[in-house]
Amino acid sequence: MSRQPLRLAIMEAERILAEAGVASPRTDAELIAAHVLGAERGKLMLTPLVDRQVIEAIGQLVHQRAKRIPLQHLLGWAVMGAVTLQVGPGVFVPRPETELLLEWGLEFLAGREHPVVVDLCTGTGALALAVAAERPDAEVHAVEIDPTALAWARRNMESSRVRLHSGDVTAPDLFAELDARVDLVLCNPPYVPVGTAVPPEVGEHDPFKAVFSGSDGLTVIRHVVNLSARLLKPGGAVVIEHDDTHAESVPELLATRKVLTDVEDHDDLAGRPRFATAIRTS
Ligand SMILES: C[S@@+](CC[C@H](N)C(=O)[O-])C[C@H]1O[C@@H](n2cnc3c(N)ncnc32)[C@H](O)[C@@H]1O
Repeated sequence: MSRQPLRLAIMEAERILAEAGVASPRTDAELIAAHVLGAERGKLMLTPLVDRQVIEAIGQLVHQRAKRIPLQHLLGWAVMGAVTLQVGPGVFVPRPETELLLEWGLEFLAGREHPVVVDLCTGTGALALAVAAERPDAEVHAVEIDPTALAWARRNMESSRVRLHSGDVTAPDLFAELDARVDLVLCNPPYVPVGTAVPPEVGEHDPFKAVFSGSDGLTVIRHVVNLSARLLKPGGAVVIEHDDTHAESVPELLATRKVLTDVEDHDDLAGRPRFATAIRTS
């Protein structure tokens, strides 16, 4: 069977994906090729020629990606920190910008022994698992409301010590047993204002309740602020991801709770407001 240049297949894939409006066509083309070959993306050039079946398999995935099916659904995985998570239909795909929350949280935990950490709105379990991987001494809890997301989280946590809870972060008695015991609350909640235009990957494939949260995007965050104020021990911290329109509103919500202090907002790598932090007073 004739072998064909992989480079040309990737160029063609990039062209198709760019035409379909995919945001990062070259990256996606290379990741699809790497997935089909079972190779690392950085080592694709070590395989200059490939069989026709490989070109066809790449073409099939590119065809689906051009329909704006999330790349991670096609590959079956996404990354958070040191952890690779299984993802697919029915669960929110972890995003690179959420790594910033993780980094802030891990830095905050440095020097604290046996910290108690809670991941509110865990989805696949991304943040909880990433913290557990970095901090073997931590007691890590994760909570999620959606049964399908819970099933993905359960799968990802199969051989992990993270304690997964089925629950609603708006419930007034959630985690009553952890009151004033928690060192760090991490939360990437649904925060997009209902009615905001989003790309097809989000609008058609992320669950609605994972993305949108009331007309101002703050419905779940309001509860998360109150819950954090209750759960945190003195000197503990909360870190909440938010919409780039929330640079003032989320810090304001945190500041309404007198027990929360040192409220700060933080940008993402593109310079957009992305997450807010606060410390529980001693
Ligand atoms: C933006 S996703 C984030 C998932 C994960 N933390 C991540 O970063 O990949 C928000 C998650 O919150 C869950 N969720 C929404 N409302 C909730 C509630 N009231 N209580 C618990 N989880 C909720 C959704 O089902 C979804 O999995």
